[in-house]
Amino acid sequence: MPKKLARRSFLHHGLSLGLATTLPGLAQAASQDPPLIVYNGQHKATTLKLLDAFTAATGIRVESRKGSSIQLANQIIEEGERSPADVFYSEESPPLAALAERGLLAPLEDATLAQVRQDYRDPKGFWSGVSARCRVTAFNTSMIKKGDLPDSILDMATPAWKGRVAYVPTSGAFQQQIVAISSIKGRDAALDWLKGLKRHGEAYGSNKAALAAVERGDIATALINNYYWYNLAQEKGVDKMQSALHFSGQGDPGALVTVSGVGVLKTARNAQAAQTLARFLTGAAGQEILAKAVAEWPMNPQVKPGFGLQPFEDLHPPKVNPANLKGEEEALQLRREAGLA
Ligand SMILES: [Fe+2]
Repeated sequence: MPKKLARRSFLHHGLSLGLATTLPGLAQAASQDPPLIVYNGQHKATTLKLLDAFTAATGIRVESRKGSSIQLANQIIEEGERSPADVFYSEESPPLAALAERGLLAPLEDATLAQVRQDYRDPKGFWSGVSARCRVTAFNTSMIKKGDLPDSILDMATPAWKGRVAYVPTSGAFQQQIVAISSIKGRDAALDWLKGLKRHGEAYGSNKAALAAVERGDIATALINNYYWYNLAQEKGVDKMQSALHFSGQGDPGALVTVSGVGVLKTARNAQAAQTLARFLTGAAGQEILAKAVAEWPMNPQVKPGFGLQPFEDLHPPKVNPANLKGEEEALQLRREAGLA
């Protein structure tokens, strides 16, 4: 689309959608505008529930394009100002931080930022956390007693745990865990941990596959994100689960909290509608839907988590701020040195 035309349509939609959200009579006009384009890195089912509710509440149509968060961020960088994306909803915060660093995001509205826990949004206001997830150890309850699990995840990459730890070297949250260990315990500790996992643990292709292996009794434990267990428990029935979760807490990197988040593209053609979506995702209505859809902690402190999750305050994650957990290159470099990439 020629630049001039894109600018005109941006102004047009900004005006009409802004009014449509406040004047019900104009909702019809909003539904005839081109849809808001969301690049979605978050799990599809969760996002669709949120977007459907958003459209029902505002009349703003949304088209969602699914990919991995890192792929989508790279795509936005490649597309530059021609990117059709209005909003980026990422499963992890580092891809958002990467876009913010390159000047590709617009600041979020103050009203949006004010709804979210302060430590879980970009200090400069270019993106915000939507939900938090916690790294956990899933363990097969007939193979291991909870009391036999070590206090620190670092002790699971050792000969004593040979063949008993499943891990997913390619997962986004795993990269953040590497960076967290490096920043809390030092680079050598992170490298030793990875080398230990490579030597004594078992690599899996996805969190889901790692958890399924624990459920089958193929392996005793898996380092995963908490919500995978709750998803499966919902599917199978909690009483049929062969595994349980261990939240290490006590500031250990094994209890790392990571966030999914939202950003609005600087080049958004539907800038006003895009900001409205960011406000909805972090507002009480959106967060209530999220809490029912997935076992993650809403980042709006007014909304309680679902699935019987403990209060967010009880997680005691390590003292690293997800807003500053970048270091994708560092994680990749460390994985290479450990022979895991
Ligand atoms: Fe995930």
